[in-house]
Amino acid sequence: MSIERTLILIKPDGVQRGIAGEIISRFERTGMKIVGMKLMTMSPELAAKHYEAHVGKGFYQGLVKFMTSSPLVALAIEGPKAVDNCRKLMGKTFCTDAQGGTIRGDFGVSRGLNLVHGSDSAESAKRELGLFFKPEEMLEYSRAVDAWTWNDEDKG
Ligand code: RTP
Ligand code: MG
Repeated sequence: MSIERTLILIKPDGVQRGIAGEIISRFERTGMKIVGMKLMTMSPELAAKHYEAHVGKGFYQGLVKFMTSSPLVALAIEGPKAVDNCRKLMGKTFCTDAQGGTIRGDFGVSRGLNLVHGSDSAESAKRELGLFFKPEEMLEYSRAVDAWTWNDEDKG
């Protein structure tokens, strides 16, 4: 079954710059389904859990300061190969390295202010979705266009 869920964060720079909607649209227009969404401020405790793999790295403290500085939008997104597909749409980590056509390439010029986070594996997605959403905050629903958006081959 390759229908997956992944965690996407529109980081504080995306919200402050007023382009959260445009960024969400990049994911939405592929046909992937938004199954959870909330505007929230990341607490230092949540940041420590979310970024535990980066503890001790040179950029860690600046990253946590940035991510907790202002509200972000958390999204749970579902679709075929959603983890990799979202990473593809985001582009390389630093906006200056990201190709045109990607979110970071089209909307950013910074290294650290890179607009979005996306889980990097199915395991990370499961762990991260659990940090940001209660099970009942991720909804199961069908859309009229579902049958025209992905089919049994994509689920296989
Ligand atoms: P993300 O986790 O935000 O989706 O980004 P990513 O997988 O492409 O990058 P990752 O290696 O997980 O790093 C997490 C975030 O830390 C900041 N960073 N700064 N100055 C640096 O060398 C550096 N390296 C990483 C970025 O904001 C990156 O998104
Ligand atoms: Mg990462």
